[in-house]
Amino acid sequence: MKVIKTIPQMRDWSRQQNSNGFSIGFVPTMGYLHEGHLSLIREAKKHAQKIVVSIYVNPTQFAPGEDLDAYPRDFKRDEQLCAAEGVDAVFYPSNEEMYLPQHKTFVITEELATKLCGQSRPTHFRGVTTIVAKLFNIVQPQVAVFGQKDAQQAIIIRRMVEDLNFPVQIITAPIVREADGLAMSSRNKYLSIRERQEAVFINRSLELARKSFSSGIRDLEAIRAQMEALLQKNTSARIDYIEFTDAETLGRPMPQEAPVLLAVAAYFGKTRLIDNTILE
Ligand code: PAF
Repeated sequence: MKVIKTIPQMRDWSRQQNSNGFSIGFVPTMGYLHEGHLSLIREAKKHAQKIVVSIYVNPTQFAPGEDLDAYPRDFKRDEQLCAAEGVDAVFYPSNEEMYLPQHKTFVITEELATKLCGQSRPTHFRGVTTIVAKLFNIVQPQVAVFGQKDAQQAIIIRRMVEDLNFPVQIITAPIVREADGLAMSSRNKYLSIRERQEAVFINRSLELARKSFSSGIRDLEAIRAQMEALLQKNTSARIDYIEFTDAETLGRPMPQEAPVLLAVAAYFGKTRLIDNTILE
C-alpha cells in the first residue's frame, strides 16, 4: 500500500491506475478509523478495482470553538487498518498541501447546507463540499463511498456532483452500529462512561419512531414528542434537533408518498452526536 502526501503524486498515481485499465474507488475520511469506515472501504471494493482512502482532518469544516484540535488522530493505526483491508493508496496530505495561504474559493450547496446540522453549524457544509470537490479533483475516482450516518452530507455531495458535473458515482453505505445500537463515530471517544451509557438512547428513540411509524402513525409531531420524552427521561442530553425531511431532497416530508429521513442531533456533555433512520 502506498502512502501519498502530495497532490502531484496522488494525481500521477491515479492517472497511472486509470491508464492501466483500473477503476478507482475513493473513501474520504478524517482518520481515526473504525468499523464504519472499514465498511465503506469494503463497499468501495465492490465497485472499483483500486481503492484510495484519504485521511485528512479538514479545518474548513470546523467552526472556531469546535473540536478541530481535539479531533482524534492516529495515523499509524489508520495505516495498518487500511493495509489490512487491502487499500491500494492512502492520501495523507498536510494542511499546507491542501490549502494555500491565499485560498479563497468555496463550494456552497445553497439551502441544503442550511438545514438540519447547518442550523447549528452554518459553515460546516461549505467546508465539506469544498474539501470533497478538491479531493475529487486530486484523486479523480470513478466511484466514491459515503456513510448514511452523515445523511445530510451524502445528500449534499450528491447534489454537488450533479450540479458541478463531477464524473463520480456516489454510493451511500449503511450505518454501522456498536453492539448496543450506538452509531459508530470517531467522536464517541469523547464520551464519559455515563454519557456513553446515555448515548444509546439516540438509537432507541429512532427505534421507537420506526415502531410508531410502522404501526401506522403518520403524525410526525406525535412521533417527535415520543422521542423527546424518551430522551428526556433517560438522558441528560441537550437535543439539538429531531427533524423529519424528504429522504432524498431534505425537503418537506411526505410520509404518505415518499421515504422520510428522521435525523437527530444531541449534545452529551460537550459532544454532539448525530444519527438517523429512514421511515418508509
Ligand atoms: O465524513 C467525513 O469524515 C468528512 O466530512 C469528509 C467527507 C471526509 C470531508 O472532510
